[in-house]
Amino acid sequence: MSSLSITRTLPADATSAALRADVTQGLTRTPKQLPPKWFYDARGSELFEEITRLPEYYPTRAEREILLARAPQIAAATDARTLIELGSGSSDKTRHLIGALTGLHTYVPVDVSESALTSAGKALLTEHPGLTVHALVADFQEGLTLPGTPGPRLLAFLGGTIGNLLPGERAAFLRSVHELLSPGDALLLGTDLVKDEATLVAAYDDAQGVTAAFNKNVLQVINRELGGDFDPADFEHVAVWNAEHEWIEMRLRARKELTVKITGVDLAVSFAEGEEVRTEVSAKFREDGVRDELAAAGLELREWWTDRAGRFALSLAVRS
Ligand code: SAH
Ligand code: AVI
Repeated sequence: MSSLSITRTLPADATSAALRADVTQGLTRTPKQLPPKWFYDARGSELFEEITRLPEYYPTRAEREILLARAPQIAAATDARTLIELGSGSSDKTRHLIGALTGLHTYVPVDVSESALTSAGKALLTEHPGLTVHALVADFQEGLTLPGTPGPRLLAFLGGTIGNLLPGERAAFLRSVHELLSPGDALLLGTDLVKDEATLVAAYDDAQGVTAAFNKNVLQVINRELGGDFDPADFEHVAVWNAEHEWIEMRLRARKELTVKITGVDLAVSFAEGEEVRTEVSAKFREDGVRDELAAAGLELREWWTDRAGRFALSLAVRS
């Protein structure tokens, strides 16, 4: 018998203290910035899925290629009975892993987007009757409490989402992963790789403007949840390669001087013409850097697999 349960560890009300604090701090500092997790309301999750199908956005296709090629090896190496996935979204690529893990008992998708978890859970259960899906609406940066499920456990963090964390956040996150893993468990980590600037910028500034709509969606989230009066048309989507940090930055640039009122946090935020809010970084990695960051968190890189074109990597790591 298959079953789907959803446990919420975040407040049901999206106008949580966390959103208010992030908006207040982020829009009153210089330069302005917002954390990327607020992109993902129901509309933002849909827009991300559209991004994954764009011709310019190669990471999803590259990671799927690796998963299709390596799923049997991952299954043999881990023998996982529980698959935990952080930032699982639609769980679409995960299906290849679930199909290969023959002893799998429970799948634990973890995401801030409840709409994504609900539709992914339903779709998976029709495909895998017999699977138990225990979804968690939770912030993976806030100290996760996982359900007591059988080991060995495989913790997957796919899509390159680790690149959306800043370096200090990444280090703290990887240490928390180390704490979650017991001997015999493993981490499967997806990382996008450093490549030529034109390919990278195109992936974050597509011709159809889907990434622009995704970026501007954070303004709609603030309008709806915190009583903001942002007009998204007043802002331009910007994607730039930061060669020093080896990350793409997404920003929203004010087209003119303007003031936005956000009544829910009692703020009036002024923008100069051309002023930018950084809304996301998307770091790109190299093998040595990934090995070193894992080692600093007490994790040992065991396998490094890339797609044939060398655009994206999947790492398999264990507690060292
Ligand atoms: N893993 C999927 C989805 C990637 S999109 C893929 O590879 O295609 C990033 C996902 O992480 C979104 O579903 C978003 O809602 C989720 N997310 C972003 N920040 C999060 C956080 N702090 N805690 C939990 N989920 C988060
Ligand atoms: C979820 N994450 C890995 C995506 C990325 O590529 O950094 C989010 C995204 N931002 C713009 N396009 C896609």
